[in-house]
Amino acid sequence: MKVTVVGAGAVGASCAEYIAIKDFAAEVVLLDIKEGYAEGKAMDLMQTASLNGFDTKITGVTNDYSQTAGSDVCVITSGIPRKPGMTREELIGINAGIVKSVSSSLIEHSPNTIIIVVSNPMDTMTYLVHKSTSLPKNRIIGMGGALDSARFKYRLAEALGAPISDVDGMVIGGHSDKGMVPLIEKAARNSVKVSEFLSAERMDQVVQDTKVGGATLTGLLGTSAWYAPGAAVSGMVQAIACDTKKIFPCSALLDGEYGLSDLSIGVPCVLGANGIEQIVNISLSDAEKAKLVESAEGVKKTNGLLVL
Ligand code: 2OP
Repeated sequence: MKVTVVGAGAVGASCAEYIAIKDFAAEVVLLDIKEGYAEGKAMDLMQTASLNGFDTKITGVTNDYSQTAGSDVCVITSGIPRKPGMTREELIGINAGIVKSVSSSLIEHSPNTIIIVVSNPMDTMTYLVHKSTSLPKNRIIGMGGALDSARFKYRLAEALGAPISDVDGMVIGGHSDKGMVPLIEKAARNSVKVSEFLSAERMDQVVQDTKVGGATLTGLLGTSAWYAPGAAVSGMVQAIACDTKKIFPCSALLDGEYGLSDLSIGVPCVLGANGIEQIVNISLSDAEKAKLVESAEGVKKTNGLLVL
């Protein structure tokens, strides 16, 4: 299994580190445009191999896509991260050109690859890759829901005073502060609905805290988060590499599912060797459906800013 990670910044390097530590990939190529940067990060990560006990070979390259040839999975993290007070949507002007160019270069050397898009505004960047490449739609996946669901579980465990291993929850919809849809009605503590433990007000606080999870960290850190984004996308890569058929909420191109079409947005997907093996149509309450439709309207509005 060969994985390429484009962008050796904090998210990309964290993704490469977690992939290496999980040790399911033979090779990870870390690529960046900054001279020597990916090489340095790769070398530093390789010097943890004996300490962290992995055999994955991490190499760094500066803008040489020939070294990415034959990649089974390519992760796109390149582009600028948001600053405090910014929305993810404000990044479209710069990141769209970067993502379009990067995806084209990746596919030139790995025509059968699966692409996972992390760069923001992620749902729109994922849609851009669908529209600007010839990859089948099951091989283009956006990472947002896996991260948002991890933040949702963190907030649920905090509210419940429960170990996070006892908590289950999923976030669907757009990966945006206003548009994401934490499925609080379905969230559970060891199969018991959280509404049996938490008041309506406390559940609503969990939802609100989840929705601004990224912005909260950007305010604290002065830039976008990286540990959880890197871990979220490494889990998706592992599901593909090991053909686990695990369900993740992923940004997937819809063609009628959930009554939505011609956009990429977070819905439950089975991930395996073919990328998106199946878009899972789960039953949603009327309130959940309405939030998803509203979220889709927001994503389509951002998509409208693209020059395709
Ligand atoms: C986040 O929410 C970077 O969009 C990513 O942290």
